[in-house]
Amino acid sequence: MPVITCIDDLKRLAERRVPRMFYDYAESGSWTEQTFRENTSDFDQIRLRQRVAVNMEGRSTKAQMIGQDVAMPVALAPVGLTGMQHADGEIKAAKAAEKFGVPFTLSTMSICSIEDVAENTEKPFWFQLYTMRDQEYLRRLIQRAKDAKCSALVITLDLQILGQRHKDLKNGLSAPPKMTAKTIANLAWKWRWGLQMLQTKRRGFGNIVGHVDGIDDPSSLFSWTAEQFDPKLDWAKIAEIKEMWGGKVILKGILDAEDARMALKVGADAIIVSNHGGRQLDGALSSIRMLQPILDAVGGQIEVHLDSGIRSGQDILKAVAMGATGTYIGRAFVYGLGAMGEAGVSAALEVLHKELNISMALCGQREIAGLTPDVLLVPEDFSGRWQ
Ligand SMILES: Cc1cc2nc3c(=O)[nH]c(=O)nc-3n(C[C@H](O)[C@H](O)[C@H](O)COP(=O)(O)O)c2cc1C
Repeated sequence: MPVITCIDDLKRLAERRVPRMFYDYAESGSWTEQTFRENTSDFDQIRLRQRVAVNMEGRSTKAQMIGQDVAMPVALAPVGLTGMQHADGEIKAAKAAEKFGVPFTLSTMSICSIEDVAENTEKPFWFQLYTMRDQEYLRRLIQRAKDAKCSALVITLDLQILGQRHKDLKNGLSAPPKMTAKTIANLAWKWRWGLQMLQTKRRGFGNIVGHVDGIDDPSSLFSWTAEQFDPKLDWAKIAEIKEMWGGKVILKGILDAEDARMALKVGADAIIVSNHGGRQLDGALSSIRMLQPILDAVGGQIEVHLDSGIRSGQDILKAVAMGATGTYIGRAFVYGLGAMGEAGVSAALEVLHKELNISMALCGQREIAGLTPDVLLVPEDFSGRWQ
C-alpha cells in the first residue's frame, strides 16, 4: 500500500490506473479551463493566522449540514460516471462516506442506479437531480429517490446545457467506452481497471438505461444531455419540484447574489456556491471568491455550502471560516476512487480530515464553531471590483 500524504498522491495513482478517457473526463474544465484553474489558485491567496499557547486538546471537526450530523463539514459531491473511475464506483464511494460519517450525493448521471446504492448501503444518501424535458421520467426519478429513502434532493441548476470540454470530445467519451483502436491501446495498460470492470454488470447509465425510451445513443453523455435536459428550467419549475419532493432541498450551482436571493425566496434549505468545478461557464469567478458576496446577499437566512476547488483540509477550513456551513469534494474523492477504490475514497477523507484537524489546532481552534473570519488573512480586494 503506497504512503498517501495528500490528495495529489491519489491523483497521480488515479492517472496511472484509470483509462485516459475517464481520467480526462474528471480532470478537465470547459474551454480554456480558466475557472477550473482559479477554483484552486484562489484558495491559495487566502492565508491563515498562526496562534500559539492555546490548549489544543480535545479537538473535534464534527458539524451539521442541513441539520444532519457530519464527522467534518464535507459531503461527497455528485459526480457523473463515477462507476467508470472504478467498477461499482458509486457503491464504493457511498460506503466510504458512510463509514466516515459524511453525506454521499448520487448523481442522476451515475453508473450504479439509485436502487443499487440503496441496497448496498445502510444510511440514507442524498440524490442529485438534473431536470428533464420528459416530465413523466422526471416524476418517476423523484419517486425512485423517495422510495430509496434519500434524505435530501440536490437540484443542479448550472447544467441545462453542457459546457464544452475539449478533451471529452477528442476522446469520444461514452459509458461503456466504445472500442476504438485508441481506446483498446489505452485499456491494454489499464488491466487492473479492466479486470474489475469485467466482474460487474454496472457499465451503463444506471438511472437511465431501461427507464426511458427514445434516446439515440444511451451511452453518450452528450446526446443524453442535449436530448433530455430541460432547457426551460426556471424558478417556477424549481418550486414545483420542491413541492413534488416534499423533503430537504439543496440548490446547486449558485454563483450570483441575485440567484442566491431567488433561492432563498423559493424556500431552499441550502444553496451550494458552485461553478460545477469549472466545467460549465469558463470565465466565471471561482466559488471561493463569490462566497462572501453571496453570504452578504442571503444574510444568514439559509445555509450556504460551497464546492469547486477543494483539494485540502486547509481549503475546507478557509471556506468554513469565511462562512460556509459545509463543503463538497468532487475530484478529491474521484482521484481516491480511481487510485484504490473504496480504500482510496477513505484515504482521501482521512487526508482531508487530518489536514483540517491539525490546521485548526495551529490556528488556535478546537472546534468547527471557532472557525470564523478571524482565523483568516484575506487580501483586501479578494472579492474583486468587477463592473
Ligand atoms: C467528473 C465530474 C463529473 C461531475 N458530474 C456532476 C453531476 O453529474 N452532477 C452535478 O451536479 N455535478 C457534477 N459535477 C460537479 C461536482 O458535483 C462538483 O460541483 C465539482 O466537482 C466541485 O469541484 P471539485 O471537483 O474541484 O471539487 C461533476 C464534477 C466532475 C469533476
